Amino acid sequence: MLVTGGCGFIGSNFINYWLSNHPDDSIVNLDKMTYAADENYIDKSMVKGNFEFVKGDIADRNTVLLLAKNAEVVVNFAAESHVDRSITDPSPFIKSNNVGVFNLLEASRKYELRFHQISTDEVFGSLPIESVEKFDEDSSYNPRNPYSATKAAADLLARSYYNTYGMKVTISNCSNNFGPHQHPEKLIPKTILHALSGKKIPIYGNGDQVRDWIYVEDHIRGVEAVLKNGKFGETYLFSSENEISNLKMVKKLLKSVGKDESLIEFVADRPGHDVRYALDPSKARKTLGWNSVFKFDDALKSTVEHYVKLKELYQKKMVD
Ligand SMILES: NC(=O)c1ccc[n+]([C@@H]2O[C@H](COP(=O)([O-])OP(=O)(O)OC[C@H]3O[C@@H](n4cnc5c(N)ncnc54)[C@H](O)[C@@H]3O)[C@@H](O)[C@H]2O)c1
Repeated sequence: MLVTGGCGFIGSNFINYWLSNHPDDSIVNLDKMTYAADENYIDKSMVKGNFEFVKGDIADRNTVLLLAKNAEVVVNFAAESHVDRSITDPSPFIKSNNVGVFNLLEASRKYELRFHQISTDEVFGSLPIESVEKFDEDSSYNPRNPYSATKAAADLLARSYYNTYGMKVTISNCSNNFGPHQHPEKLIPKTILHALSGKKIPIYGNGDQVRDWIYVEDHIRGVEAVLKNGKFGETYLFSSENEISNLKMVKKLLKSVGKDESLIEFVADRPGHDVRYALDPSKARKTLGWNSVFKFDDALKSTVEHYVKLKELYQKKMVD
């Protein structure tokens, strides 16, 4: 299996899960090692000669072709993943999220590989805050920032390779993940780390934006289910249906580390900020037999404990 972006948040959790649950499989991890990556996220106690790490860029066609030659399956986690950075400078997003995916698809076409694209709920755009509506596999794409636009374009390209070349392509779109190894630029680790060092916690606008949270291992079990039983050409949505506003999430996290809400600081809203995301995971439940197993509050508690325990490591990665 060629796994890309395996030194990032979700990719590293995927590799650790896979090596532990599928010890007879071999993985090559191709990662460019951007600011979001850390080689130490891979649990070395799981590595038994069936794992290789290659530092390289999916936007480099030759590297991708070389590694794809000996693979059977490609699972693409590699991406520029932070919306704010995509607003400041979209260029690396086009390179990694589009040129990179094109290279992986071309290599998969050449060597007749199975290709799975990891995608996001953000491709569907924003739902009204007061509605109970959810996106499903038939919802149309309406990405509203450069990050989600590059992810949407990648999904459409992957889908076109199934339709045009009959390739073995699957796609999964997941809601907001939380868990260990997430870069501290993202809401949950950032809130915990700022709170621990008594720094103000910036909240965009009034903090009413609703996000739909899933524990990272439930997402990974979903990807495992697609690789096992997914139908080529299909998209699967994963969500644990835990909707909570950003403000409520921050207050919950402050309480869990024993800090005061006075640390909250409301700042100017992000341009084009999506107000609500929500996915309907019924198809994945019915057709893959998948369901999330982690209870939101328990998983959030263990996530907070992880960042508290390793706060020095994560604080070094913080940019503001
Ligand atoms: N984090 C979420 O909540 C979430 C939700 C749904 C989908 N996703 C998707 O899951 C995937 C992983 O997200 P994440 O949160 O782990 O991101 P991340 O930023 O933590 O990790 C991305 C990894 O990809 C690597 N990478 C980036 N560009 C590369 C390139 N050109 N070549 C090789 N490696 C490259 C980075 O070095 C890093 O290790 C992304 O595709 C993202 O769109 C994330």
